[in-house]
Amino acid sequence: MMKRNILFDCDPGHDDIMAILCALAHREELNILGYTTVCGNNTLPSVTRNLLNVLSYLGQPALIAEGCDNPLIGGPEVQDAHGKTGLDGFDFPEPTFETLKISAVEFMKEQIMQSKEPVTLVGMGPLTNLALLIKSYPEVKKRIEEIVFMGGAIQGGNILEHSEFNIYADPIAAEIIAESHIPLVICPLEVCRDVSINEQQINALKNAGYVSNMVYGLLDFYYGYARKHHMKETPVFDLCTILYLLYPEAFTGYACSLEVIPQGKTVRGMTVIEPQDDSCITVLTHADKGLMEGFLQDIKKLDREVVQK
Ligand code: BDR
Ligand code: CA
Repeated sequence: MMKRNILFDCDPGHDDIMAILCALAHREELNILGYTTVCGNNTLPSVTRNLLNVLSYLGQPALIAEGCDNPLIGGPEVQDAHGKTGLDGFDFPEPTFETLKISAVEFMKEQIMQSKEPVTLVGMGPLTNLALLIKSYPEVKKRIEEIVFMGGAIQGGNILEHSEFNIYADPIAAEIIAESHIPLVICPLEVCRDVSINEQQINALKNAGYVSNMVYGLLDFYYGYARKHHMKETPVFDLCTILYLLYPEAFTGYACSLEVIPQGKTVRGMTVIEPQDDSCITVLTHADKGLMEGFLQDIKKLDREVVQK
């Protein structure tokens, strides 16, 4: 497999962190150029702090640039599911490094233009930063290999009847991305169901190692919703993006058109996804359910690799 250059755009978020951990366990295949944060699951300062906390805990300082603290139009739509901090469940020590002094858009533009190889953007929150990037610097478009993002739904939503949170939170940004002509891979709610974790798998992480302990605390909190609703497992949404980049053959999907409904009380953020053979957009529909076990092995690998400071 060719090593890919990736830039993470995220709003951590328990599942954002799981995707990042998965990528960190696969440095041979993925070259992480850096991270940008966006207001989504929680406020911008909170999600940025969450990312700094996790990477500091792992002893992996990295390039992080803060992005938008609001969607393109309207105000932030923060979520309860991730707790008060946006990443409840584990007490982190103070972070050991700071964010860059440049904005997410400037940082992404620099990284993309400097990179010898095309860059893959991994979207795990509202698409605000990415939309601003391609509007401000259209020249980056031909240097983007693809944008793989978690968002949208083929049918049922998780915030409105047909709308998924990341798209609902900034539908204008999603519309800009949908119309960008950049190759897109959509990980909608449907495929994320195949990337679910159960309580037994979470419990097995307890006291199993330095990274496992953190993942246990985070996922045990994250699982609260599933527990309350007597679900047998819960999707780890954003993890889908990285699993797809690592194991595309484990996924099925089809070429499609993508239309985003920008407003409307009951339809805001709805994604209309229809098969279209000549499209540069792919929607994923199913994944091999065994991928989750592989991810749990990745956490064990990190336990062995990460030196406790
Ligand atoms: C999306 O919403 C966020 O809270 C999750 O991190 C994921 O990106 C799922 O709808
Ligand atoms: Ca997210």
